[in-house]
Amino acid sequence: MKTSKLLILILLTTAGISAAFAEPAQKAPSAAALNRTISVTLPDSEQVFPPGAGAEIANSQCMICHSAGMVTRQPPLRFGEWTAEINKMRTAYGAPMPAEQVEELAKYLTAIKGKQ
Ligand code: HEC
Repeated sequence: MKTSKLLILILLTTAGISAAFAEPAQKAPSAAALNRTISVTLPDSEQVFPPGAGAEIANSQCMICHSAGMVTRQPPLRFGEWTAEINKMRTAYGAPMPAEQVEELAKYLTAIKGKQ
């Protein structure tokens, strides 16, 4: 009888000590917090290149890695400079554009964003 009382006392004391040292329980996020809908407004960007002869090449080849705006927001370039720019995309960055389309695309880019 005495032994069992002592045992219970020890058990209760141990439980009390471990409860006192236990980490505060992490509060799991509620289902409502996980399922809430947020709305963001992204900055406007041009979805496609402006229409014109060669625009389909630009739309299919020049938006694989970046936006149309990356091209149209550049300062105007001469035909030879656009040609060099397109070839830089092909050789330095690996744009998979066929060589035979370079001239038509350079003419298009000069038409939409060229200088004399
Ligand atoms: C394989 C990926 C890839 C493709 C396809 C691609 N570009 Fe780029 N382009 C890049 C990278 C990378 C940059 C540099 C981005 C930076 O500096 O943050 C870049 C930047 C540019 C710039 C900004 C000036 C510069 O030289 O950094 C222009 C203009 C440009 N590209 C034109 C084109 C045109 C025109 C085409 C279509 C033939 C094209 N790109 C296709 C990867 C690509």
